[in-house]
Amino acid sequence: MRSQICVLPGDGIGKEVTDQAEKVLRALEKRFGHSFELERALIGGAAIDETGGPLPERTLRACRESDAVLMGAVGGPRWDGAPWEKRPEKGLLDIRKELGLFANLRPAVIFRELAGASLLRPDIVEGGIDLLVVRELTGGVYFGEPKGRDEADGSRSAYNTMRYSEQEIARIARVGFESARKRRGRVCSVDKANVLAVSELWREVVREVAKDYPDVELSHMYVDNAAMQLVRDPTQFDVILTSNLFGDILSDEAASITGSIGLLPSASLSGSGFGLYEPVHGSAPDIEGRNQANPMAMLLSLAMMLRYSLGLEGEAKSVEEAVAAVLKQGFRTRDLAHSGETVAGCSEIGDLVAEGV
Ligand code: IPM
Ligand code: MN
Repeated sequence: MRSQICVLPGDGIGKEVTDQAEKVLRALEKRFGHSFELERALIGGAAIDETGGPLPERTLRACRESDAVLMGAVGGPRWDGAPWEKRPEKGLLDIRKELGLFANLRPAVIFRELAGASLLRPDIVEGGIDLLVVRELTGGVYFGEPKGRDEADGSRSAYNTMRYSEQEIARIARVGFESARKRRGRVCSVDKANVLAVSELWREVVREVAKDYPDVELSHMYVDNAAMQLVRDPTQFDVILTSNLFGDILSDEAASITGSIGLLPSASLSGSGFGLYEPVHGSAPDIEGRNQANPMAMLLSLAMMLRYSLGLEGEAKSVEEAVAAVLKQGFRTRDLAHSGETVAGCSEIGDLVAEGV
């Protein structure tokens, strides 16, 4: 099989971790006889430095001409003070919107070998953590209009709008229910319906969509409670279905209870199955260029790409198993290592996984 993949290294550790993904793709070519054509393009701060904006037209075109997109990370202190149009994060929001990537899947799984790395007590994680955050990605307060800043009588104010149409809610709800069907059949929809009008509509529409999925068990939870339940008893969750902002926050929390955000992959999908795959960790500028990043979230994102956009289930499994095997053999990047354990570098982990697929 021949596929075209657009690779967007981005900023910070983005380049180091996408390098490992390329290594593993080359190994998969040999092992399974595929051909992956990789095209690199610019996004985020790297794009701002080269072209003046965080998402050049050329990059969008390269993505549209590809079967899937692999992204590293964007952002860094160098661009933090810049106006919004020249911020790396703007490139990320724009690419999601432009490519219609409304469904963000963020699985949080605890590897048995790493139960000790979780921030939670052993008796809490004993039952195993295996949940999926289904986050709406192209609506809500991230994109709602009006937004802006005013100044009147010498006093500044600023505002955003949390807005969802019923169509936007229904389509992400369907992704949540469909995902639950392939898992343990339970959806917990997270909102703030005791306060927000937009959440009231969210709950209403999710209930309507649920009628098409009588085999899936639906529950609702307020976001403040959900944040607490995630640390109190994460084993109660299967699929967490939620809006853009709540999903952003809860997925970081879910990541940290599994041990390290360096392990959390994500897929951002359009209605047609086209997708952008990226680790949930950011650009980690503090460890950029030191070969200390954990490439596992990136490699697990690559596995999601093989599965969801290229239909290569066997290849996806072989990457996931190779990552698990490397952990089992005791290799740990700095974010996972306990004191006294030997620390492996980013490229070393990449080599080991490439050898293992
Ligand atoms: C994420 C990130 C982004 C988000 C930022 C970088 C714009 O935190 O993908 O979770 O808020 O969506
Ligand atoms: Mn985030």
